[in-house]
Amino acid sequence: MEKTNIILEIKNLSVEYRKSNKIIPALRDISLTLDKKETLGIVGESGCGKSTLAHAVLKLLPETEGKITSGEILFREKDSSRIDILKLADDDLRKIRGNRISMIFQDPFNSLNPVFRVGEQITEAIRIHNNAGNKSKGNDIELRNRVIKLLELVQLPNPELIMDYYPHQLSGGMQQRIMIAMALSCNPDILIADEPTTALDVTIQKDILDLLKELQKKLGLSIILISHDLGIIAQFCSRVIIFYAGTVMEKAPTDELFHNPGNPYTKGLLDSLPGKSGTAAGEHKRLKVIPGQVPDLTDLPDGCKFNPRCSFKIDKCSGKEPGFIALNKNHVSRCYLANELK
Ligand SMILES: Nc1ncnc2c1ncn2[C@@H]1O[C@H](COP(=O)(O)OP(=O)(O)OP(=O)(O)O)[C@@H](O)[C@H]1O
Ligand SMILES: [Mg+2]
Repeated sequence: MEKTNIILEIKNLSVEYRKSNKIIPALRDISLTLDKKETLGIVGESGCGKSTLAHAVLKLLPETEGKITSGEILFREKDSSRIDILKLADDDLRKIRGNRISMIFQDPFNSLNPVFRVGEQITEAIRIHNNAGNKSKGNDIELRNRVIKLLELVQLPNPELIMDYYPHQLSGGMQQRIMIAMALSCNPDILIADEPTTALDVTIQKDILDLLKELQKKLGLSIILISHDLGIIAQFCSRVIIFYAGTVMEKAPTDELFHNPGNPYTKGLLDSLPGKSGTAAGEHKRLKVIPGQVPDLTDLPDGCKFNPRCSFKIDKCSGKEPGFIALNKNHVSRCYLANELK
């Protein structure tokens, strides 16, 4: 069997939402790979399709509106066979969700149920996944001990006390730790973290990211970290994929992306980071912002989807949409001028 480190491969994935007779092409022809034990970052402005991708991987798109129109999502089993998640029957899908691929959703406050104690919610997550995976259910004492272990794992103090709290009795950072504990409750191979820190204060953001980093090392997780903040991705991820208007604009190792961006959109995101474009972190110079607006997905421009906002634009950018141009072996950009942006 072919030897590879890839645990998840998404091939040519396209997703549409259908709403009031409109078709919204939320993802167009997305291909990417995730290696074992790697952290892959996905970055882009609001509405570019990051959460849609996360939901598609677990077939969690809203049933009536969301439709996967093409593609494959290939998960590599421990015996190296590959299964296409999109072709799985519901029973088999439940064995993957939570057990093998887990997700932390964008909003911890709405993801926890306010009327149940957090310990009960973690216990329930373990029960559901164990039933789906036909693992032994364990008795109540075993389950309680597992919940305590999970709360210790996410570094919450006094687990025996905290498990009896309701979500509203916990801070935002503590709630997010509970969400992480639930996501890890069945030892997944892959964790998809969709903006896990956006709703939190800056100092707590760092704590949660440090926790994820530590857990990754300890548990050997492969992580997809989704964020609109390239600064967060840079600290945490070895590779980055830049999304724009439902499509991939650039893929590169993080260092390479920072030192040699091959796409004007990436350059714009980098220039808007504190510490870039001559603005030292802490200095109060005005940061550059990318001019213009993200396009309406139902009325996308011809050619490169970024061309109306692009200061490097040449005539052909509004003709045919560019394909990927390689800057080197691990670095591609969807831009005609990828190699000339210095
Ligand atoms: N249920 C839905 N019905 C119709 N359109 C939707 C639905 N969910 C998302 N969309 C649209 O699909 C596009 C991608 O949305 P998505 O939530 O994936 O973006 P995102 O990159 O995660 O944004 P954010 O950074 O704000 O979380 C947006 O234009 C959004 O309005
Ligand atoms: Mg989102």
